[in-house]
Parts: sequence; structure tokens; C-alpha cells
Amino acid sequence: MARRRMIYEGKAKVLFEGPEPGTLVQYFKDDATAFNNKKKGTITGKGVLNNRISEYLMNRLNEIGVPTHFIRRLNMREQLVREVEIIPIEVVIRNVAAGSIATRFGIAEGTPLPRSIVEYYYKNDELNDPMVSEEHITAFGWATIQEIDEIIALSLRINDYLSGLFLGIGIKLVDFKLEFGRLWHESGDMQIVLADEISPDNCRLWDAKTNEKLDKDRFRRDMGNVEGAYQEVARRLGILPEAGPADAPAPDTVQ
Ligand SMILES: Nc1ncnc2c1ncn2[C@@H]1O[C@H](COP(=O)(O)OP(=O)(O)OP(=O)(O)O)[C@@H](O)[C@H]1O
Ligand SMILES: [Mg+2]
Repeated sequence: MARRRMIYEGKAKVLFEGPEPGTLVQYFKDDATAFNNKKKGTITGKGVLNNRISEYLMNRLNEIGVPTHFIRRLNMREQLVREVEIIPIEVVIRNVAAGSIATRFGIAEGTPLPRSIVEYYYKNDELNDPMVSEEHITAFGWATIQEIDEIIALSLRINDYLSGLFLGIGIKLVDFKLEFGRLWHESGDMQIVLADEISPDNCRLWDAKTNEKLDKDRFRRDMGNVEGAYQEVARRLGILPEAGPADAPAPDTVQ
């Protein structure tokens, strides 16, 4: 097992220094949290499944020209990505009312929205990731107007593409969260790219016929069979990994 220098340990992943400058290794854990860390648990095998699911979706997005940080999957739990400067905004794209939008506006969960809605939340656990507007984002210098325009265009494109991809396998993409970052090229040019992960941890995915939840809401709401739901998403995508000894333990870390 490679010894890697740990850069950051988050709630669902660990970031390690990558093999070349400008690269990072994302290690996917089985840890699950909800309600800003108030609920904690583990979902056996989640890290392996999310690594695969995110690899698959990032590859599809790269193919249609959406720039992402993803380079390649390394093993069962790790993927190599380009290091970016994360824009501290969680971008949420909603197609159907669920979760906080349903509560805040008194809309029944499952009601289709008149059009896709993009929301922004400031990434700050101490403040509970407060919802913010474009005004806050530009006033506080988290991103420029041009960067926000690029983020919206990419988000809507990703939404259109992924909505179709999931519908093709009998899944409704209800809503999802994206993170973007700045990638600098040697020429000095900066590009906004999709970063982090796309998985049932940060998407609401409902069976198109039955509305059965196939995502982290099963954990949040104690509905049981969380692992089975994540496996079902991977199975329908045609990427269910073989279970067994190929699972990779976390690397030894060096200071
Ligand atoms: N390509 C990248 N370069 C640098 N940082 C990244 C990249 N992709 C994702 N990240 C960051 O790595 C971390 C991933 O870990 P994890 O998802 O466990 O974090 P988290 O517990 O959700 O915490 P946070 O609130 O910081 O997102 C996140 O902080 C994310 O913003
Ligand atoms: Mg995260």
C-alpha cells in the first residue's frame, strides 16, 4: 500500500497528495453524515460504490465536453483528480421538490418544479452551509459574475445530460449538489471545472415508476437498505463492482 501525505479529511472522503504536482488522490470512505454532521454512521461498501459511480458519471461528462477534475480511478476506493481551488459554494440543481425546498415553500415532495432551479449555499459547516444569492457570492469575493455565469451554464448542461442518462435507466434525477473549482493551465489561463463527486450521497435519485428512494435520504430518514439502494444505482448504470478482496484499505499516511 502506497504511503501518501494526507491533505484533508472530510466527512465522506480523504484527500491525499497525488503522484504528480497538481494532482490529488480522493479516497472514498464508508462514513456517512447528515444534517451537518449531527447524524453519523457508516454504510458498508458506500465508498467503493461512490468511487465507481462518480468515475462513470465524470467520464460521461468529460466525453460531452464538460470539464471535470477527474483523471482516472486508481483502485476500489481511490481516484486521481486534478487539484483545483475549490469555489466555496455548493450549487444545488432541483427538478422536483424534495428536502429543504419542499419544507421552505410548503410544496409536497415529488411535485415537479415549473423549471429547473439553481440554488447556492456557502460551504461553511460552522454556519450550517447558509443559502446565499449571487449578490453575496460577488460581494464577498467567492466568485466573479463571469465565474457564476460559467457555473450556471455548466450546471444546467450537466442537469440536462444527467437527467436523460438516469431516465434511461428508470431513475428520476430529483436534485443534486455540485462543487466547482478553478484549474490553472500552464499558459496562465484559468478554467472552471466540475470537482468533488457525483454519487447517491449528493443526488436525490428516485425510481421513475415507484418513486422509491435510491440515495442518501434512506440514511437521513432511517429507511433501511441504504447499501442496497446505492448498489441498485450502480447495477442500473452497469458498473456494479465485483465484491470481494479487491477492496483497498486507506493508505498509511505520513506527516
Ligand atoms: N479537485 C479537487 N481539488 C481540491 N479539493 C477538492 C477537489 N475535489 C473536491 N475537493 C474538496 O475535497 C473535500 C472532499 O471531502 P468530503 O466530501 O469528505 O468533504 P466534506 O466533509 O463534505 O467537507 P466540505 O464541507 O469541505 O465539503 C471537499 O472539501 C471538497 O471541496
Ligand atoms: Mg463533501
